[in-house]
Amino acid sequence: MMIGRHHGGKLLAGASLAALSRRTLATASVVAARGFAGEAAQGAKYLYSGPARGGAAASAWLRAPAIGMRRESTLALGEKEARPQQQQQQQQQTAEEEKRAAAGGKAIASYWGVEPSKVTRGDGTEWRWTCFRPTETYKADLSIDLKKHHAPLTFLDKLAFWTVKSMRYPTDIFFQRRYGCRAMMLETVAAVPGMVGGLLLHCKSLRRFEHSGGWIKALLEEAENERMHLMTFMEVSQPRWYERALVFAVQGVFFNAYFLGYLISPKFAHRVVGYLEEEAIHSYTEFLKELDNGSIENVPAPAIAIDYWQLPEGSTLRDVVLVVRADEAHHRDVNHFASDIHYQGRELKEAHAPLGYH
Ligand SMILES: [Fe+2]
Ligand SMILES: [Fe+2]
Repeated sequence: MMIGRHHGGKLLAGASLAALSRRTLATASVVAARGFAGEAAQGAKYLYSGPARGGAAASAWLRAPAIGMRRESTLALGEKEARPQQQQQQQQQTAEEEKRAAAGGKAIASYWGVEPSKVTRGDGTEWRWTCFRPTETYKADLSIDLKKHHAPLTFLDKLAFWTVKSMRYPTDIFFQRRYGCRAMMLETVAAVPGMVGGLLLHCKSLRRFEHSGGWIKALLEEAENERMHLMTFMEVSQPRWYERALVFAVQGVFFNAYFLGYLISPKFAHRVVGYLEEEAIHSYTEFLKELDNGSIENVPAPAIAIDYWQLPEGSTLRDVVLVVRADEAHHRDVNHFASDIHYQGRELKEAHAPLGYH
């Protein structure tokens, strides 16, 4: 009985394989009949712009028919008249890529018609950053009140306050007075809540078929801004292997804890971030003290910071810490505000989100 079943299974598998082969061969012959074997070979050429190696070349030839099939099926959707123009664009693109490759840069080839965008500054010179664009740069509002504090009165607020305070002690012990390293490490955590909150509000908006009041974007803006803090501090401090390992572990724990916390009580989650930002303001104030008393060298500001915060040429690390601290104060306001909305029994979507609040 078991042998019979086994044999039957083999027969079934064999029949399926045979059907699959017929299908594959049939598709391949249609493509060949349409005469796009030449284009397929050209597609393989686009895949590799570097010098040909034995393995790479063989792999390209193996992939070539698949490229031809895909390309033809895309063009078959009533766009055949656009082909000469597309071919011209591709030729231009390939020529540019070859020029770039000849200049020593590693070109990224594409036959999808998606050209790498060229970003320029207002004066027409090339924009050197890929992680943000000139339209995302701004001048930080340094006039913001840094001393504002939300007094924890309710049980939930006290829990949020002491959760953050309890996290500060191990951080103080671990980093001591190495504020550059401390800032870099803490930014890896600070950039998580905005993304998690934005993601959950996004899913909620989809589930409930409702608007978000701009809060998804506001929280994602916060995450992006925090990530830019990290990109900046990476320029002045390099993480050691055990610090990288710590970030890995902390991110795993914090992401999931915040995700769950936000699901259970967004009121609590935003309050926690509000207090985290208050702590961040304190840390950056200490950082400034160390810069002022000469314990930390006031090195020139990283180029990425000068462009992102539109700082004048000749700015220093102190100027960078000032604008980052102002950003943290804005995050504090946004998150305490979000928590207050929930405290009033309302939903975030009922209040216009503070978009572009820097
Ligand atoms: Fe930050
Ligand atoms: Fe922040």
